[in-house]
Amino acid sequence: MAFKNSGDIKPFVDKIWLSSPTMHGKELEYMTEAYKTNWMSTVGKNINEIEAQVAEYVGVKYAVALSAGTAALHLATKLAGEKLYGQARPNKGTLEGHTVFASDMTFDASINPIAYEDGEAVFIDTEPDTWNMDPVALEKAFELYPDTKLVVIAHLYGTPGKVEELKAVCDKHGALIVEDAAESFGAKYLLDGKWVETGALGDFNCISFNGNKIITGSCGGMFLTDSKDDADKVRKWSTQSREAAPWYQHEEIGYNYRMSNVIAGVIRGQMPYLQAHINQKKAIYERYKEGLKDLPVKMNPYDAEKSIPNFWLSCLLIDEDAMCKQVRDDQQALFIPKTGRSCPTEILETLASFNAEGRPIWKPMHSQPIYRSHAFITADGNGRGQSNAYIDKGNARDIGMDIFRRGLCLPSDNKMNEEQQELIIKLIYRCFS
Ligand SMILES: Cc1ncc(COP(=O)(O)O)c(C=O)c1O
Repeated sequence: MAFKNSGDIKPFVDKIWLSSPTMHGKELEYMTEAYKTNWMSTVGKNINEIEAQVAEYVGVKYAVALSAGTAALHLATKLAGEKLYGQARPNKGTLEGHTVFASDMTFDASINPIAYEDGEAVFIDTEPDTWNMDPVALEKAFELYPDTKLVVIAHLYGTPGKVEELKAVCDKHGALIVEDAAESFGAKYLLDGKWVETGALGDFNCISFNGNKIITGSCGGMFLTDSKDDADKVRKWSTQSREAAPWYQHEEIGYNYRMSNVIAGVIRGQMPYLQAHINQKKAIYERYKEGLKDLPVKMNPYDAEKSIPNFWLSCLLIDEDAMCKQVRDDQQALFIPKTGRSCPTEILETLASFNAEGRPIWKPMHSQPIYRSHAFITADGNGRGQSNAYIDKGNARDIGMDIFRRGLCLPSDNKMNEEQQELIIKLIYRCFS
């Protein structure tokens, strides 16, 4: 038994969350204003205000407020498909018959829109320096699939990826980028000597205001762009694709994806607190880093010269030689406790038993049952079928699965106080005792 509780630590009375909404007061005022003025709709002042505020903050010309980050990603992906391959028939996706390169270690909402649009995602392995898409693997993917013209790139846990290198590979091959900045609103990247916000780095950019994000509307998302035509198109698609006629006239397939003015009121109330939330999350990250420094673990890494993360989630990675045995099937996990060692399953179960919420790392998309038949490209090339029953070549490279196996997301709620965080750190030490 590795974890020992000598009874001195009591479970938290109030649950410590991974990342929960933090309201400040103004949100209710703006929601109430929508109610009192009867703008309980998908038009209204709150929407206009937050579109202007977010566009200004991110440094893009236009922001289109949508019902979710997923909706933003869908319309961004559809728009990219239409630009590359033309308008699709009403019952077909714009990516039919085409491959799209996509981040592998991310939430499935990043990449499902490729399938909504009838495209085939090819998953690109992760690099160990920022836990995002590996530019070397991306270059290999273009060697194997030279006709691919679209790449979906996510910034994981609020940490910008190797944007400069990824953009250079995409430019070389004439490919467009859908940027998924759902988790990284407020994070910055140094591009060509200038700090640029995530959400302004791709050709079609998306953020999320889901309840667990750095600021929230309870739900919601945005499409961000410098192109008026693109903003107009996404706004039109999101409101059932109505044409300029006195009646409901439709030449394109439409969606009901517009943000509600009530939700926009919540986001409007949250916007002034974005930087305060980032500061709190950064302090949490730094306290974990300092508090866990004597354990055989590392925090989720970032490039301190070229990026300023928003520190949305603090994560840790256990050193290989400090891992106890752990197995996971498609639904359950088991581990064998060992003195001086631990594993994500043990730490997550321990935290849960003390009423604190952690989470496994995003399970890589190439290993998800729904996408197991899709191609997966690593820095070595094709990542599928690389073991050999007759010739031992060692383990094939798969950085994402390695991080999934040895990593976990720690409770990162900005309402967690220092004392509570110290107890969490203590619990993690005991897992290794
Ligand atoms: C990386 C990533 N992409 C997309 C989404 C989808 O955003 P939403 O929940 O607003 O639809 C999320 C989070 O929920 C996410 O973490």
